[in-house]
Amino acid sequence: MAEPADIYEKVMELAKRRGFIWPSAEIYGGVAGFIDYGPLGAQMKRRIEDAWRAFYVIREGFYEIECPTVGVEPIYVASGHVKGFSDKMCQCPHCEEYLRADHVAAAGGIGNAAALSAEALGETLKSLPCSACGEELGEVRVFDFNLMFNTWIGPGSQRKGYLRPETAQGIFTDFPRLLRFYRDKLPFGAVQIGKSFRNEISPRQGMIRLREFTQAEAEIFVHPEGKRHPRFDRYREYAVPLLGCEEQCGKGEPVLVTMGDAVKKGLVANEYVAYYIALTHDILVTVGVDPARLRFRQHLTTERAHYAADCWDAEALSKRFGWVELVGIADRTDYDLRAHACESGVALTAYLPLETSRMERRRRIIPDMKALGPKFRGRAKEVADALVKADPGPDGVEIEIGGERIAIPSSLYQVKEEQVEVRGVEVMPHVIEPSYGIDRMCYAVLEHSYDEDMVEGEVRRVLHLPPAIAPVQVGVFPLVSRDGLDRVAAEVASLLTAAGIFTEFDESGAIGRRYRRQDEIGTPYAVTIDYQTMEDGTVTIRERDGMAQVRVKKDTLAATVRGLLGGHTAFASLGP
Ligand code: GAP
Repeated sequence: MAEPADIYEKVMELAKRRGFIWPSAEIYGGVAGFIDYGPLGAQMKRRIEDAWRAFYVIREGFYEIECPTVGVEPIYVASGHVKGFSDKMCQCPHCEEYLRADHVAAAGGIGNAAALSAEALGETLKSLPCSACGEELGEVRVFDFNLMFNTWIGPGSQRKGYLRPETAQGIFTDFPRLLRFYRDKLPFGAVQIGKSFRNEISPRQGMIRLREFTQAEAEIFVHPEGKRHPRFDRYREYAVPLLGCEEQCGKGEPVLVTMGDAVKKGLVANEYVAYYIALTHDILVTVGVDPARLRFRQHLTTERAHYAADCWDAEALSKRFGWVELVGIADRTDYDLRAHACESGVALTAYLPLETSRMERRRRIIPDMKALGPKFRGRAKEVADALVKADPGPDGVEIEIGGERIAIPSSLYQVKEEQVEVRGVEVMPHVIEPSYGIDRMCYAVLEHSYDEDMVEGEVRRVLHLPPAIAPVQVGVFPLVSRDGLDRVAAEVASLLTAAGIFTEFDESGAIGRRYRRQDEIGTPYAVTIDYQTMEDGTVTIRERDGMAQVRVKKDTLAATVRGLLGGHTAFASLGP
């Protein structure tokens, strides 16, 4: 068998062979952009999601909700996905493969290809090779391709629906109920972990670009004028490698900055964005992303959404794919709530009581229904409702109903000036959104934790996974499968399982081979039952990374292993 060429191939070979990641529907030839998580992969992914929950749900106190993956059309009209969620595509005239035009241009050395218009991309592609067949593309038409999967809801094709392209929209549409749940106070946050769907044009990057993937998103609703984070001190001195707009135009090297300084110097827009940059760094390192291969890159003004006040991507360095975006952290202002309020007609604001009430002069518009009735007949109420909200000038006012603009003379209403006591204000919250791609995190963790060394003349493949993320927590082996060692080892395995520790019992093959089998799936500890166990009731615990072994009492084993897995006990403290 030929040696796998690079780390991606090595990682994916291991991942396939050991049951982490499999091609989906493999018996039917597979389909690009879909993957299956095998037994170990599903377990590791769940552990990464649970580590994420430990930060966002348990520590931040943001409740998790679960919304359908199918959404009705108005949601995605409001969010802008129906109109604008598309990539530029072209078709190779030689092999007929559909290609992402900006990716072909970028591979051909064209900078900032994603920001080019369809026409400009078409021009640049002429002399570039097709990424599928290698032929020069020549004249190709570049056009927009909407990435949403659409469907029909119910029989009879009455309602158009879409598979959600992000989990965030469910949180926005639940805003009024969430606000009530959080007792009408700001700030509050809600999170969601679930599947999102994007019909990517040519997904050829394994787990990086999928058509069905898992997102973990948090939407934090804050007062628009209150972007100082109440717990900022937690991360004020936390330093993160930041590649701001300025650095990207300069040397291209990130600078290590504390979050306090980043806000003070105006590098990051506000404390909320800085807080979630630091928290994201904290999570990514906790789940096993190498901090030396992690940076936070600010979106350039050309790539940042027009409504966003600031936006940073957490990027991990992959030997195969370069810098890969794992998480996007954005201050989305009130864009989403405003858009949904406009589309649904529901006021998506929070009424916040003032500490002390104040008196204000207000103008009140009182429509003259006796005059409006005969003039507007069935529409009189609509006209009156619009008038109440209007801001009339001295000669009248123009209102809009269903897209029609109607001039209303001042004879059809009265304007009263009055003093009112104001006890609170209606505000439309701004949204801070850290959005995580779980599958990309899984890949980055696998690539960064993969290692090879030579042990006893053989290549040892190891996944240096953090114990909290490793799918199997402990391997239990009898040194040999006879003389009662196998029976005692089975008892030890049951003891650990009863303590809630995920254990794999393995009695087949040489002991060295069994260690290797666990090393390459990242199992942090292996417990071996040998002849000494039968004499003094001790077992050995072997640590994956340093391969050192210590003896501990069988009776205290479960507590010891729990301490090791939870990081409360250092392996070195157990003995020589
Ligand atoms: N609600 C904001 C949002 O969805 P995004 O940058 O489009 O933002 C967030 O997606 C994260 O989801 C990305 O940082 C990435 O990790 C992941 N992601 C996006 N598209 C993906 C795809 N096709 N395959 C795998 N992960 C993807």
